[in-house]
Amino acid sequence: MHRLRATVSAALLSSTALAVPYAEYILAPSQRDLAPVTVHRANGTVINAAGVTSSGTGGTTFNSVSAVTYDYSKNIGGLVSFAVSSSSDSDQYIGISFTESSVWISPHGSDATQNIGIDETLWFKITGPGNYSVAPLHDRGGFRYLNVYHNTTGNVTLSHLQTYFTAMPHFPDDGIGKYTGYFHSNDEKLNRVWYAGAYTDQLCTIPSTAGNSLVDLDATDPDIPTVWWSNSTLTNGTSAFTDGPKRDKLVWPGDFAISVPGVFLSTDDAITVKLSLQQLFASQNTTTGALPWFAQPIYTFPENSFISFGKEVFSFNYHLFTLLGLNNYWIYTGDDEYLQNNWNRFKLALNYSLSFVDETGLANVTSSFDWLREGMGGHNIEANSILKHTLDVAVTLAYAVNDTAHVATWTNASTAIATAANTLLWDSTASLYKDNETATLHPQDGNVWSIISGLATANRSTAVSSALAARWGPYGAPAPEAGTTVSPFITGFELQAHFLAGAPQRAIDLMRFMWADFMLDDPRMTNSTYIEGYDTSGALHYPAYEDDARISHSHGWSSGPVLALSTFAAGLHVLNKTSWVAHPQPGNLTHVEAGFKVGHGSYAANYSVVAKSARYIFSTPSGTKGSLVLDTPSCDGNVSITGNIGSLGGKKSFKWSKQINSHGSSSKPWNCGVWGPTPSSRSLSAEGTITIDGLTGGNYTVEVTCM
Ligand SMILES: *[C@@H]1O[C@H](CO)[C@@H](O)[C@H](O)[C@H]1NC(C)=O
Ligand SMILES: *[C@@H]1O[C@H](CO)[C@@H](O)[C@H](O)[C@H]1NC(C)=O
Ligand SMILES: *[C@@H]1O[C@H](CO)[C@@H](O)[C@H](O)[C@H]1NC(C)=O
Ligand SMILES: *[C@@H]1O[C@H](CO)[C@@H](O)[C@H](O)[C@H]1NC(C)=O
Ligand SMILES: *[C@@H]1O[C@H](CO)[C@@H](O)[C@H](O)[C@H]1NC(C)=O
Ligand SMILES: *[C@@H]1O[C@H](CO)[C@@H](O)[C@H](O)[C@H]1NC(C)=O
Ligand SMILES: *[C@@H]1O[C@H](CO)[C@@H](O)[C@H](O)[C@H]1NC(C)=O
Ligand SMILES: *[C@@H]1O[C@H](CO)[C@@H](O)[C@H](O)[C@H]1NC(C)=O
Ligand SMILES: *[C@@H]1O[C@H](CO)[C@@H](O)[C@H](O)[C@H]1NC(C)=O
Ligand SMILES: *[C@@H]1O[C@H](CO)[C@@H](O)[C@H](O)[C@H]1NC(C)=O
Ligand SMILES: *[C@@H]1O[C@H](CO)[C@@H](O)[C@H](O)[C@H]1NC(C)=O
Ligand SMILES: *[C@@H]1O[C@H](CO)[C@@H](O)[C@H](O)[C@H]1NC(C)=O
Repeated sequence: MHRLRATVSAALLSSTALAVPYAEYILAPSQRDLAPVTVHRANGTVINAAGVTSSGTGGTTFNSVSAVTYDYSKNIGGLVSFAVSSSSDSDQYIGISFTESSVWISPHGSDATQNIGIDETLWFKITGPGNYSVAPLHDRGGFRYLNVYHNTTGNVTLSHLQTYFTAMPHFPDDGIGKYTGYFHSNDEKLNRVWYAGAYTDQLCTIPSTAGNSLVDLDATDPDIPTVWWSNSTLTNGTSAFTDGPKRDKLVWPGDFAISVPGVFLSTDDAITVKLSLQQLFASQNTTTGALPWFAQPIYTFPENSFISFGKEVFSFNYHLFTLLGLNNYWIYTGDDEYLQNNWNRFKLALNYSLSFVDETGLANVTSSFDWLREGMGGHNIEANSILKHTLDVAVTLAYAVNDTAHVATWTNASTAIATAANTLLWDSTASLYKDNETATLHPQDGNVWSIISGLATANRSTAVSSALAARWGPYGAPAPEAGTTVSPFITGFELQAHFLAGAPQRAIDLMRFMWADFMLDDPRMTNSTYIEGYDTSGALHYPAYEDDARISHSHGWSSGPVLALSTFAAGLHVLNKTSWVAHPQPGNLTHVEAGFKVGHGSYAANYSVVAKSARYIFSTPSGTKGSLVLDTPSCDGNVSITGNIGSLGGKKSFKWSKQINSHGSSSKPWNCGVWGPTPSSRSLSAEGTITIDGLTGGNYTVEVTCM
């Protein structure tokens, strides 16, 4: 039945043949059979090394001990096969190995999925002409470089070499790149950043039967390449949304907290999110309500110690991330039935979280498991901010399912967390929250979540945003709670925090130097998908792993800019299927455009600055309602708003105009026509913004003209 649903949605997609805006930026392939693009390096006696690339002809001969490393020019994933047209005899061997980063290219193995040792080379005995293919269990979900190694005397000639792209298995073969969302701006770096984020989420969407790459985690000898494969079944459908396509190939809810909105804003792949979320709920302990650290696969054989371990581990935050994942799914799909079906599980889980709250009003965390960081215990600021946010989300969901019995309890608990955290954990000297009462450390995770959750007041949000930005290093925002780590996962939340604190320029600057200059353009990267984490020195080291080759270069949790750009910079905030807020925060960009189509309709926004005026055109689905929020303009002038409301709402058009006075003082004038940065817009009605409520879905044009 689930398979049928997936097929139906695929058929619908292929029949929508509308032109996709800015398709030239889309990294997804236009069909599934992919030839390598260039030769990265050839070793030994190789004739016509480029013969089997997409632009080559004539085949490639490997003579004696020789190798060619092919470059697909971007990260891809799938099943490799090749055709042999001739060989010197029937006792030849070809070995293939894979890497995402060029750093790990080797004839002796791939980069790593296990914690010790690299993954073994796949060997083929070449008995003569014919086709050779890897088995489905060797679907390598993430690699840019493919190494072909010939290890003996004699020769082998390949006439063809290809990878069958297996990500997004439920999309039509020619529909992988037919995005329902787009983004464009005057900043070419941000354009590439958005599309690489969307593509990262796509590579993480793997065939549901190609899950779990952690087969030999108990390996102990770094010098012996380890066996690897992925054949666990992850969901009851065709596809699964995993943390990363090379590794772990498991459904981890932490990733969902940031990648699920990105999926809806780019490909609207609701079915994969739904199937994967269901697997998380299926692993819930029905007695305590505890949700898993990661989802148990439906079927894994042989048994594996890490998968079993995942059943026993409780992570305070990952537990809540599943609940936030359900909220994100519901926001964009409006799937009330699915929400209702999981509502008792949601309440049971939230009740379990509340059982950790003590007399202070804060939760006392007793489990150390989180995204990487250490020292998660006690009245931890990250955990309490996420709990507060989840309680606030629970209240909105309670109204949606008409079950308001716990609304007062949840509201009070949320308020109590904010009060206690601001009393016990705020450090006014540092303008940051401490990790817990006894800590001297000011974590990145807890501080960004203090803003996202609204735990921090407007003044404290402003202060935290500025203190976080002051800590940036040359390669990104540090996460001192995890040693010398830069976490694109936590920094994805930091992007949101800067926008919410009314400092959009900080988020834009961070995306430019961290995601574009380093995570795309550093030559060790794939220039197409985002690495899961690295060292503040720029070394590709992530403290969680002994083996640097294990780091995933494609991790959905690093795709935060998709949400940051479409939702915050372009200003299209979907609250639920009937409600939105339009609030552009373009910083000093002069042009920003974004749009997306979800189940209940299409959203689009286009902001541009020309001479002494700025224009923001946006459209939202008919039948919806929303508010327009404008940061204080940079000049004294006139704001006019024109809307075509259509047949709904009783009015044919809407026009509003107002003389406005800039917050800019003459000593520090802002550029004409640029909205923001403003002192604070955390509360949508706070000083520094203009809010117009009660708009009905339709097309609007806002113009700011400077005097
Ligand atoms: C491959 O080896 C065979 C047997 O030694 C030889 O006849 C043939 O010319 C070689 N082919 C190439 C392309 O080098
Ligand atoms: C190519 O040769 C260099 C130098 O001998 C060696 O370090 C590297 O591992 C070789 N690469 C491949 C893919 O064979
Ligand atoms: C080539 O690799 C195959 C597979 O590992 C191995 O059986 C064979 O002995 C190797 N040949 C040489 C000459 O190293
Ligand atoms: C998957 O399908 C099996 C068999 O129908 C069922 O027992 C299981 O509950 C389903 N799992 C989920 C998460 O829907
Ligand atoms: C649920 O959690 C309780 C308490 O930790 C534990 O005793 C029980 O075994 C768990 N149940 C399952 C099915 O794992
Ligand atoms: C996965 O592959 C391994 C290695 O070939 C095999 O032993 C195992 O039975 C397979 N498991 C499943 C679920 O197919
Ligand atoms: C409080 O935070 C510090 C810094 O992260 C940490 O070292 C310590 O273990 C935490 N306390 C508890 C009880 O976990
Ligand atoms: C949290 O609970 C643990 C275990 O009950 C206790 O030892 C610890 O003192 C508590 N921490 C705080 C900050 O209350
Ligand atoms: C959608 O959000 C708006 C604004 O928060 C709220 O008034 C409305 O009740 C929500 N609708 C549903 C179905 O939850
Ligand atoms: C909640 O109640 C409203 C109004 O009675 C109704 O329209 C809506 O369908 C109900 N929602 C659910 C999930 O039961
Ligand atoms: C990185 O990819 C972009 C396309 O997204 C391309 O224009 C650029 O040349 C690539 N950079 C390098 C160094 O290959
Ligand atoms: C935007 O601001 C950044 C600094 O935050 C600056 O580097 C950049 O040049 C500015 N761009 C324009 C077009 O003013």
